[in-house]
Amino acid sequence: MKILVTSALPYANGEIHLGHLAGAYLPADIYMRYQRLKGRDAIYVCGTDEHGVPITISADKQHKTPREIVDKYYTSITDSFEGFGMTFDNFSRTSLPCHHRLAQDFFTRIYEKDLIYPRDIEQFFCGRCRRFLPDRYVIGKCPKCGSEGARGDQCEACGHWLEPFELIEARCLVCGEAPRRTQTRHWYFKLSAFQEGLSSWIAGKKGWRDTVLTFVQGWLREGLEDRPITRDLSWGVPVPLAEANGKVLYVWFDAPIGYISSTIEWAEKQGKPDRWKEYWCDKDTKLVHFIGKDNIVFHALIWPAMLMAYGDYVLPSEIPANQFLNLAGGKFSTSKDYAIWLPDYLKGFKPDSLRYALTRNAPEARDTDFTWRDFQAWHNNELADILGNFINRTLTFIKRYYNSRVPEVASASYGARDNEMLASLRNAPAAIGARIEGFEFKGALQDIMSIAQEANRYFDHEEPWSTRMKDPAACARAMNVCAHIVAVLAVLIEPFLPFTAKRIQKMIGLVPGGWDDIARLPRIAEIGETSILFEKIGDDVIELQEGKLKKETTDKETIDLEYFSKIALLTGRILSAERIEGSKNLMKCQVETRDRKKQIVAGIGKDYTPEQLVGKVVIIVDNLQPAKIRGVLSEAMLLAAVDERGVVLVTADRPVTSGTPVR
Ligand code: MF3
Ligand code: ZN
Repeated sequence: MKILVTSALPYANGEIHLGHLAGAYLPADIYMRYQRLKGRDAIYVCGTDEHGVPITISADKQHKTPREIVDKYYTSITDSFEGFGMTFDNFSRTSLPCHHRLAQDFFTRIYEKDLIYPRDIEQFFCGRCRRFLPDRYVIGKCPKCGSEGARGDQCEACGHWLEPFELIEARCLVCGEAPRRTQTRHWYFKLSAFQEGLSSWIAGKKGWRDTVLTFVQGWLREGLEDRPITRDLSWGVPVPLAEANGKVLYVWFDAPIGYISSTIEWAEKQGKPDRWKEYWCDKDTKLVHFIGKDNIVFHALIWPAMLMAYGDYVLPSEIPANQFLNLAGGKFSTSKDYAIWLPDYLKGFKPDSLRYALTRNAPEARDTDFTWRDFQAWHNNELADILGNFINRTLTFIKRYYNSRVPEVASASYGARDNEMLASLRNAPAAIGARIEGFEFKGALQDIMSIAQEANRYFDHEEPWSTRMKDPAACARAMNVCAHIVAVLAVLIEPFLPFTAKRIQKMIGLVPGGWDDIARLPRIAEIGETSILFEKIGDDVIELQEGKLKKETTDKETIDLEYFSKIALLTGRILSAERIEGSKNLMKCQVETRDRKKQIVAGIGKDYTPEQLVGKVVIIVDNLQPAKIRGVLSEAMLLAAVDERGVVLVTADRPVTSGTPVR
């Protein structure tokens, strides 16, 4: 049997945070490391998801191109994954030409089977930006809760899912103009045709997690509807139809195909370009998708339907979706910058401490919460005091009193307690392996820690420090058993704590044979150089991290003075203003500050005439990154109060010199 493991392709528009790791990445890596130790034919593919509206919006906001955004995050995501010990066999990118080709091939074949069809619909069109607006490019007031700034697909304040037309006072996200409903054509995937096929396929998935089955059955009960799979964006995989010029495939149509294109890339890098077929085209391949719960509908319904529509390839065997990891009671949020980012974590701590905390607290059956205090407690009281302590006391004892040589013992001389301990070691790989194969990573880790705990009790009970003089044979026997325990732990923890495992293996000169070898109790002869495995983490370090965590608020996050002081606000006098050609609202202003003149483009033309503007003392954001608006350079920003009725400039209350700092 072949095993093909995937993790959800992360969007290349932000760093990886702990919520991502706990959901889709760490469990997959544990699973893969285990499969490799089992000697199975398993590969693990992933890559960055480089299309979609979140990326173009980030690009717009940062005045960068989507290409710049995805290049930046592709690099930092791969770096931080490496630092965390992720062992992908291939990590690809959906912006690569080979992925574009495959995604277009998918579209074309499904289209030719009449499972994709066009439909003329109404959509918002922004007259000023001269483009159709994807849902997230429309904002307005939520029809449900009334809060401002709801997106055309969802209101973040109340969580309500909506259609752009339901928004009250809908506006274009980019320019603020009210868009108008306009006819356009989109292409739909006939998901409804798979109602039967998916239902019976799911019926065979009895062993799946309840959380996944409940969700999927809910959708099936509601009845599947056809879904639009094209979008009006200039960034993405172009729809391979002449009449769909200017449209791209919906990111959720192209992204999962990335699992296949990443496997193709893997095969090519190996110089065996057809090898990917051994996985995707063999019906016995076990395809395992690790994802977070927000991805269930795509992986358990739409993607399998796409695969059924296309033919040729295997369907997912397992979708061990996780619930969410929360952060100190709040939700992780990339857009609100409420998160612990992996690169920041790695600057201060070792990867294994986090791998431990996230597995111990894995959101397998329900949402769980990460706090720095738990992290500290688990590191200090469990990793250091239980696991680290046992290994350290054993190795130090053997070094000191046996000249680093593990005492040999005839197996007949083991007592009942020794045999009990050794039996639990022999049983461990099968029992823990079964848990890992059942995606119970938290339970598997618990079992390993129980062995370490039992080992400490064994050590205490044997009292080698006193038998050493009174009963040297008993002491030698106990230390022989303890050495076996160390060797077994050194392999058992490898999927979970790979860096620590390697360190221990090096200390005891162990080259692990594989998972099943553990049951034969690997022997170690001599102890080499040893060192403390886990240094305790102090309160001061944890308090520092807690302080960095911005408090999540439903409204706007709070910022500190230092953050605010980064914004250079100055008074400025408007020297001249003129309308920008072709725009109803944009004005080009020359504004004088203390020692220089800045050109500012502002959307104030509906509320002010050039004559009204000249001479006004306004407040400007002086250090805003310059940007081109409608091809005109804007070097700063004017402050204004903005609401439905229009724009009111913020001006100085009394005469003041241009260029005076505003605080
Ligand atoms: N980028 C998506 C997310 O972060 C996941 C894409 S998974 C794939 O939610 F299957 F589409 F690749
Ligand atoms: Zn617009």
